[in-house]
Amino acid sequence: MLIFAHRGASGYAPENTLKAMALALELEAEAVELDVHNVEGELVVFHDRRLEGKSNGKGLIHRHTLAELEKLSVRGEPIPTLWQVLELLNARCIVNIELKGIHTGEPMKALYHRAVAELGYSPEQLLISSFNHPELADFKADVPEARIAPLLGSLPLDGAAIAGQMQAWSLHLDVSFISQTIVDQAHAMGVKVYVYTVDDGDDIRALAAMGVDGVFANYPDLARKALGEPSS
Ligand code: G3P
Ligand code: MG
Repeated sequence: MLIFAHRGASGYAPENTLKAMALALELEAEAVELDVHNVEGELVVFHDRRLEGKSNGKGLIHRHTLAELEKLSVRGEPIPTLWQVLELLNARCIVNIELKGIHTGEPMKALYHRAVAELGYSPEQLLISSFNHPELADFKADVPEARIAPLLGSLPLDGAAIAGQMQAWSLHLDVSFISQTIVDQAHAMGVKVYVYTVDDGDDIRALAAMGVDGVFANYPDLARKALGEPSS
């Protein structure tokens, strides 16, 4: 089972920061997940649409300039750009980039090609996901070699059909409504199932027994331990 360090090793370090990403590498995570917003045409790694709560800033992130964001911190750590994170990870693991909000697909196309050409990432190491399926479909149309993954925050009547329709690599589902039916539907279409966000050992083992292919965990080392694998 593939374990993604969710927002980096966010159980141990401020989420979506370089520190959380470096720690994920130290813990030998095979994959990391992070969230990006478009700020002045640049992709910035941060989860929420608003700055308060997770940083010492205020207001909507996309209404700020990069220079303003540089002055802020997430529990003492700077807010990184996606490029800084990709440089730090240095093609040493799979990176799931979750496109938040709108207008993230366009800058992602340019960064995707740069990450492959300049940093040595392979298309198998870059997985682009989003709850915004039109943005994701547009990305796939222009970068057909890319692995994409629709995120679902609810259980639709047509189950996993959307993933097949979009030629997705994987379908990302909320642990709270996972079912054997949707796992089997996805697999029947050749689509992998990755489940967020899971830190409970019993949950992880139950998902593995259902044939789930991967989980997003805030404590990636403990998730591996729950599966009976060495924690690092
Ligand atoms: O990508 C998996 C998971 O991160 C999706 O939800 O809100 O944690 O970004 P969220
Ligand atoms: Mg996310």
